[in-house]
Amino acid sequence: MVLPFFTEKDIEILIRARYPILYMISWEERRVEEDLEKIAQARDKKVYIWTFTQGLTTPAGTYHNDTTREPMLALDYILQSRESAIFILKDFHPFFERADVVRKMRDVAISLRTSYDTVVLLSPVLKVPAELEKDITVIDYPLPDYKDLDELLEKLIQSVKRNPQVKINLPSDDREKLIKAAQGLTTGEAENVFAKALVMNNSLDAEDIGLIISEKEQIIRKSGVLTYYESDESLSAVGGMENLKEWLKKRASAFSEKARKFGLPEPKGILLLGVQGCGKSLCAKAISAEWHLPLLRLDVGSLFSGIIGSTEENARKAIKIAENISPCVLWLDEIEKGFSGVESSGATDAGTTARIFATFLSWLQEKTSPVFVVATANEISKLPPELLRKGRFDEIFFVDLPSEAERKEIFMIHIRKRSRDPANFDIERLVADSEGFSGAEIEEAVISALYDAFSEGGELNTDRISNAIKQTFPLSKTMQEDMEALRKWASARTRYASSNGGDNSRK
Ligand SMILES: Nc1ncnc2c1ncn2[C@@H]1O[C@H](COP(=O)(O)OP(=O)(O)OP(=O)(O)O)[C@@H](O)[C@H]1O
Ligand SMILES: [Mg+2]
Repeated sequence: MVLPFFTEKDIEILIRARYPILYMISWEERRVEEDLEKIAQARDKKVYIWTFTQGLTTPAGTYHNDTTREPMLALDYILQSRESAIFILKDFHPFFERADVVRKMRDVAISLRTSYDTVVLLSPVLKVPAELEKDITVIDYPLPDYKDLDELLEKLIQSVKRNPQVKINLPSDDREKLIKAAQGLTTGEAENVFAKALVMNNSLDAEDIGLIISEKEQIIRKSGVLTYYESDESLSAVGGMENLKEWLKKRASAFSEKARKFGLPEPKGILLLGVQGCGKSLCAKAISAEWHLPLLRLDVGSLFSGIIGSTEENARKAIKIAENISPCVLWLDEIEKGFSGVESSGATDAGTTARIFATFLSWLQEKTSPVFVVATANEISKLPPELLRKGRFDEIFFVDLPSEAERKEIFMIHIRKRSRDPANFDIERLVADSEGFSGAEIEEAVISALYDAFSEGGELNTDRISNAIKQTFPLSKTMQEDMEALRKWASARTRYASSNGGDNSRK
């Protein structure tokens, strides 16, 4: 059983309810230790810490027994203890390879049910042998929240306060922004980032917010599967898709305190399904900019490639970071690339894909934090049907090739983007020439015409764009059958992103 996103209070309840073995997943040993020590103090319990290098010790150093480095002897000590204690075993999981250790741990679990002792397994990776699954409660330890980071910052400020060379200028709203910028980091990372911001110019003020965000971007990127974006494309950069835009506009302030008081549920997210190059990824970026929320892109393909460590750890970590940075937009790009193997997962990868998929599904269904998920996919045949069931997403939108009116908008957007005035172009002609073109192909035609103009010493004009269009063989011609099938599937099951939805002539 994995219990995600626990608070200190919840952990105290589990300990009081005599859950014998808790498995805490965290990179932050020190913070978990401190929290557990607080609980121990409040409940008048002793704390022991075990590592393979030290054996069992008490934090104050009053007890130290080198022979308990051997896991079997450490477990023996715990079995015999009758003194109401929390035993924190750090990185114990490698020893679960041993049959004797697994068996002994089961004995401990049984014996602890009638004692006041609790065993806490603390490690950044989750490894529970099947024999112990029923005895161990897994807690995904949350990252520090706003309050924790606030305290951390305060500690830092207090520690440098006497230094006349250090200037702290943080009115409360700047301070709030600074702390929010650090959300998503572990305590250690936040400490380092705050300290770096301070040391760089001996001051801490609003100017450091940018530094903290860029440090955070790097740290999150290093975690492997997430990319942190500050997007600046607004919905006005997206041509067409009136229905989708309408839907989004209605929900623009859905994460506000006011909406909550009114009784609105927080939107969960959408799935954008459809034709390549028609602006699905662009929409994901535009939503975050439009709503002024940070955008986290999860590369589903690389999540499953196994190149960057354990896929399950990474999936859990990604969810954890998103929850912590929330309110935010979590963009699951090209989900079919990762989740296509769900059905054959048992045979091909020992069920890893299926397990991660299940983790995501239940998170999508049950998440309570304001993380708006934007998932995109090109192909439905590869998607597991469970994903499309009600309750996972608020809505599934089908993004088709742009209609005439939409192509017009897209041409204008891209001509304007290249600092030219659309009034100088015969847009109607371009629209007529580009039947069956995707937004990406329209953009490419404009760029290619721009190159022509530059190399010929001319200007971007209708003829040049029209020529570029004629030299393009749009994907919709080569993939006509696939697109028809997709459209047919979508018409019964999804909502059209564009307002002329269902008009499949696409003229
Ligand atoms: N509706 C649109 N309005 C404006 N520009 C568009 C539109 N559709 C596509 N484009 C242009 O094409 C580029 C590529 O589109 P995008 O990556 O969003 O397509 P996609 O639907 O995600 O494709 P894929 O399925 O291949 O991932 C965009 O960055 C944008 O410049
Ligand atoms: Mg895309």
